[in-house]
Amino acid sequence: MHIRDAEIADLETITEIYNDAVANTTAIWNERLVDVDDRAAWLADRLRAGYPVLVASDDDGVLGYATFGDWRPHDGYRHTIEHSVYVRGDQRGRGIGSALMTELISQARTIGKHVMVAAVESDNAGSIALHERLGFVETGRMPQVGMKFGRWLDLTFLQLILDDRPTPA
Ligand SMILES: CC(C)(COP(=O)(O)OP(=O)(O)OC[C@H]1O[C@@H](n2cnc3c(N)ncnc32)[C@H](O)[C@@H]1OP(=O)(O)O)[C@@H](O)C(=O)NCCC(=O)NCCS
Repeated sequence: MHIRDAEIADLETITEIYNDAVANTTAIWNERLVDVDDRAAWLADRLRAGYPVLVASDDDGVLGYATFGDWRPHDGYRHTIEHSVYVRGDQRGRGIGSALMTELISQARTIGKHVMVAAVESDNAGSIALHERLGFVETGRMPQVGMKFGRWLDLTFLQLILDDRPTPA
């Protein structure tokens, strides 16, 4: 298994992984399934912004992906990003999420980002454990800010400070 930049040919599996999360999990709070064109536009947006979209792959194809984008659109947040990481259902628990996140964190540091935010559904114990293992610390919980599958969802924020710059200059 290795981590590399996503390519157009990866979009079919990325779309499947995304749609599986939409249809079956509270990891993502969307309800609309997407097609490959939607993910192609998303990939192009990320690359245009200078942000990575990484995949973990082996001879079997894409096993998972991870990316980040701006956390909030206002100027003052430009050193802060929010990421997402998804591993194919049959490949979880093999270190793939950790490998994707380790490379994503490294690339965030390389382009000078200062804080990485994870917004995780509060019952997603696997994701919270993954992030804590990587050094993220919980900074807040927002009860009932979301809904899916007929119930309210709580949101847990975790963050990783990426460098020790005393000022943003
Ligand atoms: C969360 C997710 C990305 C983790 O990826 P993964 O490849 O399964 O994770 P790893 O095998 O790298 O596990 C790394 C660590 O995370 C923790 N962890 C991962 N899954 C866990 C689970 N189900 N329960 C408890 N801890 C878990 C463990 O500490 C693990 O380390 P260990 O195996 O040495 O104990 C993956 O389960 C996934 O894609 N889930 C669905 C989508 C999702 O929730 N994405 C995150 C949205 S915020």
